[in-house]
Amino acid sequence: MAPPATRTALLGYLAAISLLLHCLLPSLAGADFVYNGFEHAANLSLDGSASVLRGGALRLTHDSNSLMGHAFFDSPVQVVRGNSVISFSTAFVFDIVTVDHGGGHGLAFVVAASKALPGASYGIYLGLLGENTNGNSSNHVFAVEFDTMQVRRLNETDSNHVGVDLNSVVSNVSEPAGYFDDDDDGRNISVKLESAQPIQAWVDYDGRTKVLNVTIAPVSVPSRPHRPLISRAIDLLPVFKREMYVGFSSSTGEKLASSHYILAWSFSTEGAAKAIDLSRLPKVPKQAAPPPSLSTVIEITASSCVATLVVIAAAIVLALWIRRRAALTEMLEDWELDHPQRLPYKELYAATNGFEASKLLGAGGFGQVYKGVLRCSGDEVAIKRISSSGTQGMREFVAEVASLGRMRHRNLDLLLVYEFMPNGSLDEHLFGRAGAVMPPKPLLTWGQRVGILRGVASGLVYLHEEWEQVVVHRDVKASNVLLGADMAPRLGDFGLARLYEHGADPATTRIVGTLGYMAPELTVTARASRATDLFAFGVLLLEVACGCRPIDPVTGESLLRRVRGHHVSGDLVRAVDERLDGCYDKKEARLVLWLGLMCSQSRPEARPSMRQACQYLDGELEMREEAVLVFSDVDSLDVGSSAFLTWSSCNTMSGGSLLAGR
Ligand SMILES: Nc1ncnc2c1ncn2[C@@H]1O[C@H](COP(=O)(O)OP(=O)(O)O)[C@@H](O)[C@H]1O
Ligand SMILES: *[C@@H]1O[C@H](CO)[C@@H](O)[C@H](O)[C@H]1NC(C)=O
Ligand SMILES: *[C@@H]1O[C@H](CO)[C@@H](O)[C@H](O)[C@H]1NC(C)=O
Ligand SMILES: *[C@@H]1O[C@H](CO)[C@@H](O)[C@H](O)[C@H]1NC(C)=O
Ligand SMILES: *[C@@H]1O[C@H](CO)[C@@H](O)[C@H](O)[C@H]1NC(C)=O
Ligand SMILES: *[C@@H]1O[C@H](CO)[C@@H](O)[C@H](O)[C@H]1NC(C)=O
Ligand SMILES: *[C@@H]1O[C@H](CO)[C@@H](O)[C@H](O)[C@H]1NC(C)=O
Repeated sequence: MAPPATRTALLGYLAAISLLLHCLLPSLAGADFVYNGFEHAANLSLDGSASVLRGGALRLTHDSNSLMGHAFFDSPVQVVRGNSVISFSTAFVFDIVTVDHGGGHGLAFVVAASKALPGASYGIYLGLLGENTNGNSSNHVFAVEFDTMQVRRLNETDSNHVGVDLNSVVSNVSEPAGYFDDDDDGRNISVKLESAQPIQAWVDYDGRTKVLNVTIAPVSVPSRPHRPLISRAIDLLPVFKREMYVGFSSSTGEKLASSHYILAWSFSTEGAAKAIDLSRLPKVPKQAAPPPSLSTVIEITASSCVATLVVIAAAIVLALWIRRRAALTEMLEDWELDHPQRLPYKELYAATNGFEASKLLGAGGFGQVYKGVLRCSGDEVAIKRISSSGTQGMREFVAEVASLGRMRHRNLDLLLVYEFMPNGSLDEHLFGRAGAVMPPKPLLTWGQRVGILRGVASGLVYLHEEWEQVVVHRDVKASNVLLGADMAPRLGDFGLARLYEHGADPATTRIVGTLGYMAPELTVTARASRATDLFAFGVLLLEVACGCRPIDPVTGESLLRRVRGHHVSGDLVRAVDERLDGCYDKKEARLVLWLGLMCSQSRPEARPSMRQACQYLDGELEMREEAVLVFSDVDSLDVGSSAFLTWSSCNTMSGGSLLAGR
């Protein structure tokens, strides 16, 4: 045994060596720390929306849009020695709280060369990377993401997944979040990340075998599952620099937000990370305190007894600020009474690959229309997106929808979900698609045309008379008639034209409708009615029978006038589409043309009701070709004004009022 003096000398000598080593490798001792809550946490660098709350929870983002937050251990950690990656191990507890369904975007454990994460952005990039940096091998960013969105553009297959990211948010490996139960035959049990329950995660990397293991389990599971969720050989050497920073990153999206919390964290490069004391986890604050943001889609299903009808569903996305959760609950109940289905915004976002340009079906007067596939049902849908950032009228309309629920809001989008109609719109079939290089569609046969018209007619009967209240369509036209796989028509956009009128200054009220389909009285009263729908339906009848636009885009000729001319000269069927080459039922063609003229008479009182029009089409009412139609002087100038003051035999009730008025 050495005498005490020698021992002291020896210790001094060893200390000197270790001091020397420290000088050679400054500050790069292994890291080994544990935070059981962050209340008095020194040595953490926070940025963005990250903050430590009273009580000790580290909140990376709160429930607001377009945030990102980072939290790093403030000293770098040596992760590469010589030519190999040092083994590391970390465990942490996170908690993702979303108000109502549909939050975003997730959080990640990150090992990066810089605490600043240059170029990083919120939303799908999770605050890790950005559009310009994603996938660049000089990023030196490694992350394990806990992602609550499905972004197909990033090849994500699930809206609740765990992924391993190497310099890119397109994960190298990813699995739906879950764990393998140790007891129950290793059954795979799924874990909902945004469950507002604390979930523990373990990330272990073995530098020798280059195997990365990721394991998660709700803290309620008594012990760490033995089998990792992800166990994969991954060489981190190309991603890592000698010194890296370790920490967390999280983001929210433009529409979807969650609060992302880290409750405890342990990290080590010197063996397994120390166990977290689960009995001392900080509490996540109750949601009541800050007004949470809500992103909800309410889908209104207009269930229809008439097969041919109409809008399948309308969804309203309300990206809203709600004062109290109670208000929300009430509101949803209100809606749900009438409208059975709701879809989270997220679902529609996923269905359209984030409203990707390649999914665009077309753009109309109200906004863009995207094709999508609903994950829940596999249904193909067309989603029309109307942004409240549009016109004043639109903003007010959307605001009114929100006010139904007594909600206050900042940004709202209106998303209308329709059944996808693979055969596009009727006008494309009749006239080809304007300006498109699409192959021309096969000519509609006469039988198909009549079938379509009957379908549209019964749809309108439903709106005018069978719906619980009278609904005026306001914009009946060929481009609003969409065709399903079997060429069965659906009339789109009913009642939506109200949007245009809404909020308009009464003194300058714009007329709603489409040129060529507008009843003459609209220019006087500017008030849509069932009769103005009938007028437009009449024009549609003529258009389909003749295969001509209501107003010829080249010559400006009015189809209505032309057919009236044929009527007056007693040769109606001459107006029938020449491309049919005589292949049509003459009697039926006369009926359609005559009914078209009946419906498009200038005097609203002279037009039949929608039900009568339907009965004529179905042969339940007898056509009376000899009945003289009422055209106004303006309409009939070149038609022969003998028709002018004569009464049509068909509408005696309103006929009385017409005569009385004269
Ligand atoms: N349900 C649908 N299925 C398939 N395509 C659709 C559907 N709804 C709309 N579209 C396409 O989107 C385009 C624009 O639609 P829309 O906004 O309704 O036009 P508009 O406002 O001119 O009536 C249509 O021309 C059609 O090609
Ligand atoms: C935090 O930093 C201080 C010095 O700034 C150091 O004394 C302390 O050990 C560090 N704590 C951890 C957990 O590394
Ligand atoms: C990758 O990033 C480096 C450094 O920022 C940059 O010089 C390089 O041009 C980037 N490469 C690509 C393909 O963007
Ligand atoms: C998605 O995966 C496909 C097939 O594996 C691949 O071709 C494509 O490049 C991937 N997309 C991205 C953004 O990595
Ligand atoms: C994962 O990364 C390895 C390199 O570490 C690469 O060879 C492989 O192609 C990547 N796989 C995917 C799906 O990105
Ligand atoms: C767990 O089960 C789900 C569905 O049952 C499956 O999609 C997933 O791939 C499984 N996870 C693993 C890691 O096997
Ligand atoms: C990863 O998991 C496998 C079991 O699936 C285990 O054999 C291995 O030791 C684990 N590695 C680490 C670094 O935890």
